Amino acid sequence: MWKPAERIRFEPARGSIPTADQARASQLFSPVALGPLTLRHRTWVPAMVPWRSNEDGEVTEDVIQWYARFAKGRPGAIVIEATGIRDVPSGPLLRIGDDRYVDGLRRLTRAVNEASGGHTRLLIQIIDFLRIRRRPDPRTFFERHLALTPALLARAGLTGLSETAAREALLALGAAGWAQVLDPRDRQSLEFGARESVNDLYLPHIQSLPEELPSLFSQAARRSRDAGFDGVELHYAHAYTMASFLSTTNQRTDGYGGSREARVRLPLEVYQAVRSEVGSGYAVGCRFLAEECIDGGTQVDDSLWYGVQFALAGMDFLSTSRGGKFDDAKQPSVGQAAYPYTGRSGYECMPQYLSDAQGPFGRNRAATARIRQAIHAAGCTTPVVCTGGVHNFDFAEAMLTAGDCDVVGTARQSLADPDWALKTLLGRADAVRLCEYTNYCEGLDQKHKQVTCQLWDREDLNEPGIRMSHDGKRRLVAPAWKDAPAGLEQ
Ligand SMILES: Cc1cc2nc3c(=O)[nH]c(=O)nc-3n(C[C@H](O)[C@H](O)[C@H](O)COP(=O)(O)O)c2cc1C
Ligand code: SF4
Repeated sequence: MWKPAERIRFEPARGSIPTADQARASQLFSPVALGPLTLRHRTWVPAMVPWRSNEDGEVTEDVIQWYARFAKGRPGAIVIEATGIRDVPSGPLLRIGDDRYVDGLRRLTRAVNEASGGHTRLLIQIIDFLRIRRRPDPRTFFERHLALTPALLARAGLTGLSETAAREALLALGAAGWAQVLDPRDRQSLEFGARESVNDLYLPHIQSLPEELPSLFSQAARRSRDAGFDGVELHYAHAYTMASFLSTTNQRTDGYGGSREARVRLPLEVYQAVRSEVGSGYAVGCRFLAEECIDGGTQVDDSLWYGVQFALAGMDFLSTSRGGKFDDAKQPSVGQAAYPYTGRSGYECMPQYLSDAQGPFGRNRAATARIRQAIHAAGCTTPVVCTGGVHNFDFAEAMLTAGDCDVVGTARQSLADPDWALKTLLGRADAVRLCEYTNYCEGLDQKHKQVTCQLWDREDLNEPGIRMSHDGKRRLVAPAWKDAPAGLEQ
């Protein structure tokens, strides 16, 4: 991952330890309505892909155990990881692209409901993404992938050669020659792996995204309702299709790119299709970027405008993130795919303990506060969820009392200790296992390995019934809270 030059070391702080009475009287542990859905508390576990599904994208026992463990900590809401809306092979990413997934997802919603004693509301994040290839070795690229256009052959002085001879000659040019003859897109495919973009209007399936996506999303949302989820989060953030429509890099010329109004058009059309499918009684919101954090990318002025459009359109909640783009991702090794959390924008999304002067805590707070202010100025009260580097009661409560957000998301802190909110509510914040922001978990995610936390994955390995990672070395869910009060034993 990209690292800031300063490399200042930050340590998480426990903050004050509220008594159970103080916690109960706090904003954090007060209810909040997301349209038709009421959360008992303002604690929120945002989407995190843990790589627990199988090659068919199904709900496995590991998926169930993973989410049931979070549910035992009784957060206000859990958002199930980014789940694919298409019925296409996507590796071990959870899928919701066909009705056959509903039964498995229903088992998941029931398990979470049971594990939280009915305290936690469950949403699912639904995602579309475009094709990305692994970085090829140059021979494969020149022999098989590169399209030999007349312009390329002319630039390389190879017009008239047979295809085989032209490909051999191009390969023989070497890095300096490739830099001169390949166009920027082909160079990107050679150096990073080919990656489709929403701007590729010459590809029929990219051109037709505005026709296809509304029904793909709305059918996925309908399945989520049928499976018993309390709501759906449309994934409009990070490196994926819908975020690419919102991005300033979207230069489509078909009315869905260029100006801000055109860039938000498809995200609004997708929302409207989802709303007509699931009705007003079902919670629908989106996750989008407060800032893209890439050169020339969207900034807060764009996203507060987007936030207002989403709120006016009737979304029930808005959840913000930042960065996480392919545009500035590091070059992967040959045979690996680019990962959108390796550049500066990736750092902004999941900053770690070695940071710049701003530090890794609450990095998305100021931008989110501005988005919320703009939404209120437009006459809406749509709840806003802010996530990023929050790991203690004081910080979360301060964000809420300052009016920076309505709900506080904690991803890595919830992974480090799924009981952190429950412990805090019960006056036991002293027992919280604090996330150290090492990004060990993010490193596993990058390799598509089963995600665990280094603070607990080698602990109590002889506990009866625990499931282990594929390499047999790590436990897959956090250990139980051993001295939990009576009635909450895990
Ligand atoms: C292992 C892992 C997987 C993640 N997967 C997703 C995801 O599926 N969808 C999403 O919107 N964000 C995802 N994120 C980003 C988190 O939701 C969150 O925005 C980020 O970790 C910053 O919050 P934190 O500082 O509380 O961890 C993931 C983060 C981690 C660590
Ligand atoms: S591995 Fe654990 S401690 Fe490290 S960043 Fe992830 S959740 Fe936090």
